[in-house]
Amino acid sequence: MGVSGRVVVVAGATSASGVATSRALLSAGAVVVAVGSNVERLSAFERSVPGASTRACDLSNLSAVTELAASVVRDFGSVDGLIHLVGGWRGASGLTAQSDDDWSAMESGFTTLRNTSRAFFDALVASEAGRLAIVSSSAVDRPTAGGASYAAAKAAAESWVRSVADGFRRAQSGNKDVASEQRAAAVRFVITAFVDEDMRRSSPEKSFASFTDVDAFGAAVVELWAAEAAGLNDSRISLVP
Ligand SMILES: NC(=O)c1ccc[n+]([C@@H]2O[C@H](COP(=O)([O-])OP(=O)(O)OC[C@H]3O[C@@H](n4cnc5c(N)ncnc54)[C@H](OP(=O)(O)O)[C@@H]3O)[C@@H](O)[C@H]2O)c1
Repeated sequence: MGVSGRVVVVAGATSASGVATSRALLSAGAVVVAVGSNVERLSAFERSVPGASTRACDLSNLSAVTELAASVVRDFGSVDGLIHLVGGWRGASGLTAQSDDDWSAMESGFTTLRNTSRAFFDALVASEAGRLAIVSSSAVDRPTAGGASYAAAKAAAESWVRSVADGFRRAQSGNKDVASEQRAAAVRFVITAFVDEDMRRSSPEKSFASFTDVDAFGAAVVELWAAEAAGLNDSRISLVP
């Protein structure tokens, strides 16, 4: 067990959480394939995270994601992890102010998750220790009028990941035709908000008490490979301090 030598795809890697996750994975000996849609942001990522491989791909395009998955398996031999970080946030002043534009932006986090999880599913099942993770929000437990679109998209993403977990179970420990142990696990991390060093520097007066440090998130991702898949699969892990 452990993440050393595992191939982990970080989907939506160029934000602070993606940089911290990629650094934590590399430090633990993993092979990181970082994906983003914006070439300039990917170049900046390459400068700040030496050692990671990068791929430009619009994850909202299923055929592009299918090609990406095939090329990662071809080039790296396997895929042991998919950390899906495409999300974002849009809020408004209340329920009637939830715009179609905002929904479209929020829904993209869900569409990209559907695409990546379908495209990488077989490789994750084939892995000795496949792991898939998303970052959901405490807003799912307490949806607000102003954050309705955001909470709805995150609730959909959580439901989808539970279905992925069921797919992993049926393919492995729950498969009566092929008696096999559970090796793959799909999990939902839950946070309220991320904080990084830049945010702390910009607002030294703020405590960020309920925020999750991106480095703590990176460490939690690495730990996914320290736990048994059977216990981990379908779990919802709060990282709210
Ligand atoms: N930040 C928070 O406080 C917070 C709070 C609760 C939950 N979360 C969740 O945590 C996760 C990470 O959040 P974050 O704020 O660090 O990052 P984010 O703003 O959600 O973006 C993550 C990455 O997604 C990439 N991306 C967007 N559209 C893409 C597409 N079509 N194809 C490929 N890549 C795409 C972006 O890079 P490019 O533009 O280069 O493609 C970006 O690097 C998200 O799921 C978010 O909803 C965050």
